[in-house]
Amino acid sequence: MAVPISVGIITVSDRASAGVYEDFGGPAVRKASEEYGWTVLAEAVVPDDQPAIQQAIRSFSAQGCGLVLTTGGTGIAERDVTPEAIRGIMRVEIPGYGEVMRAKSLEITPNAILSRCLAAIVDQSLVLALPGKPQGAVECLSFVVGAIPHSVKLARKEPTSC
Ligand code: MTE
Repeated sequence: MAVPISVGIITVSDRASAGVYEDFGGPAVRKASEEYGWTVLAEAVVPDDQPAIQQAIRSFSAQGCGLVLTTGGTGIAERDVTPEAIRGIMRVEIPGYGEVMRAKSLEITPNAILSRCLAAIVDQSLVLALPGKPQGAVECLSFVVGAIPHSVKLARKEPTSC
């Protein structure tokens, strides 16, 4: 039986949060999530600021989002701090997610090596940090989607078969 998954989506971008440009990443991740049959419970656009990112993740986890997807801020620009924000509040990182997302993305673009995309457990949620480019975010999600239901169950401390 399919595992019901409640999702929170956070766009991390100084310019999108200031309204300088439209957020395309969040809506692209929302569309992909709905196509996977997940329920999007909450969405936010926050600046590239560690406390703001951490507060949004924790708030979405407390609201019952077993899966929190961030898009943006995984690169190497000075303002890219999404990995540091997540590592500052996580219980454990799950390195396999980042390894697979980068390896598969490298088959599409050499620039994928610049993404520090990752997964971690924060409170009772699986948090996935996806790249900011909408297509890149959706691609990365597709590469790891098979592992998400089991990871979310473990994050939520629900019984699992293995
Ligand atoms: N991964 C995939 N699958 N497809 C992409 O187009 N773009 C890359 C990379 N990962 C990309 C990708 C680029 S150009 C950058 S700079 C990094 O993700 C980091 O992006 P971010 O800082 O917006 O998170």
